[in-house]
Amino acid sequence: MNENKKIPQHVAIIMDGNGRWAKQRGKDRSEGHFAGMMALRDTVKAAAEMGVKYLTVYAFSTENWGRPQAEVEALMQLVCKGVEMNTPELRERGVRVEVIGARERFSSEVNAALDRIISSTASGQRMTLVLALNYSSRSELTAAVQRLARRVAEGEIRAEQIDEQMISQSLYTASMPDPDLIIRTSGECRLSNFLMWQASYAEFYFTPTLWPDFGEEQLREAVEAFGARDRRYGLVK
Ligand code: IPE
Ligand code: IPE
Ligand code: MG
Repeated sequence: MNENKKIPQHVAIIMDGNGRWAKQRGKDRSEGHFAGMMALRDTVKAAAEMGVKYLTVYAFSTENWGRPQAEVEALMQLVCKGVEMNTPELRERGVRVEVIGARERFSSEVNAALDRIISSTASGQRMTLVLALNYSSRSELTAAVQRLARRVAEGEIRAEQIDEQMISQSLYTASMPDPDLIIRTSGECRLSNFLMWQASYAEFYFTPTLWPDFGEEQLREAVEAFGARDRRYGLVK
């Protein structure tokens, strides 16, 4: 197999730059978020066609609740609209949707929309689209520590028995492989509380492209760059 044709099994994307995209056009930030949803549509289609098996997208962080109320409200509405607009196409393409993050903070309307898209795409075999919503890597790890500590306190396991696999299995991502490639758009070079444990051996790709301008071509560029990387995992080749 050609080195440059390596397809990452799991791609994770920090979809950043919707606000700046809107500002550049004199539009409201919420219009940037809508354009971002359309970019996600294109990217999901392209990823599935390329043979990516898991696509995880950071759509709303726990910290994002601190944005102006109108923007948070627009984002919540967009989740509902996104479900409505995209469910049929995702079903057709064999894309199964999963959600990671603390869903209890969402309204019943948002949670009902999420339940709908999860259940109506559950039989998809081609690719899993993982929506990170109200996600925080530190909260995820904190909850995992609490769960394991409880099991120790109840005498179910000994502290020494806690290993890396047990920790991985206590995270939202228990059923998924770790991301191979993490993409962040908009020129920012940080994780912003995204998949810290899971990213241990991921390849990072940062692009100045703002998220609404991202799509098939930009995904191909990122995957090509990934194919040229030498993943050594601490070993000598
Ligand atoms: C990413 O775009 C979307 C979310 C965080 C919900 P931003 O809204 O962060 O856009 P910028 O970074 O302000 O341009
Ligand atoms: C990270 O983007 C979260 C999402 C893309 C959903 P932010 O725009 O919220 O992150 P910071 O504030 O630049 O770190
Ligand atoms: Mg941002």
